[in-house]
Amino acid sequence: MKISPSLLAADFLNLGKEIEKINASEADFLHLDVMDGVFVPNISFGFPVLQGVARKCSKPLDVHMMTVEPEKWIGHVRDLGAAIMNVHQEACLHLYSTVQHIHEAGMMAGVTLNPATPVETLIDIIRELDLVLIMSVEPGFGGQPFIRHTLDKVRKLKSLRDASGSKAMIEVDGGVNARTGEELAAAGADILVAGSYVFGNEDMGDAIRSLKNL
Ligand code: DX5
Ligand code: ZN
Repeated sequence: MKISPSLLAADFLNLGKEIEKINASEADFLHLDVMDGVFVPNISFGFPVLQGVARKCSKPLDVHMMTVEPEKWIGHVRDLGAAIMNVHQEACLHLYSTVQHIHEAGMMAGVTLNPATPVETLIDIIRELDLVLIMSVEPGFGGQPFIRHTLDKVRKLKSLRDASGSKAMIEVDGGVNARTGEELAAAGADILVAGSYVFGNEDMGDAIRSLKNL
C-alpha cells in the first residue's frame, strides 16, 4: 500500500519539524489540501506556504485542489514541482481539457469524487487518468468519520478501471486509520491518505508503517 499523509492535520506552528518527520518516514507522498472557502466551507493554506513546504519536502507532492475552477491553478501547482494534481469532478466544467492541461504541465492527473458522485461518471475519461481520488468524507475538514459506502465505490471503481484497461491508481481520502485502511486495502485501494491518524499519533513513523503493511 502507498501512503500519502495529509499535511492538514500537522502542527502548523512546527511545520518544518513535521516535514522532517515525513521525510524520514516510509510515506510515499505528501498530500496537500488546497481550499478556497467556496468549493468547500474552509480555507487551509495557500501557495506562499506551499512553496516553503515544497522546498523542504523530499517526498513527491500529491496536491488535492478543493477549489472552484482548479484549472486556473495548474501553473502554480506545477511550479511547486508537484507529482500529482487532483481536481474535483464537481468543480470542472471541461474535465477532459483540464486533465490534458495537467498532463501538458508534466504532472500526473487525478480526478476526485465527492461521496455522492458515482464512479460511473468517469467511464469516458478513466483511460486518461493516472489516479482517481475517492472522498470517504465530505471534503473540507480533517477528523471526520469514514463513510462506509466508500468501500462499495472502491470495488466498483476497481472493476470499471480493470474492464477499461486504465492504469489509474485508486486513492482514498478521509477517516482512514488502521481499521478502515484494512477494509480499503481489501476493496482495492492503491493509495491511502491519512491526516489525523498519522499526525495525531505519538509515533508518526509507526502509524505510517501500520498502513503501509496493509
Ligand atoms: C479533507 C481532506 C483530507 C483530510 C483527511 O477535506 O481532503 O485530506 O486531511 O483528514 P483525516 O485523515 O483526518 O480524515
Ligand atoms: Zn485531501
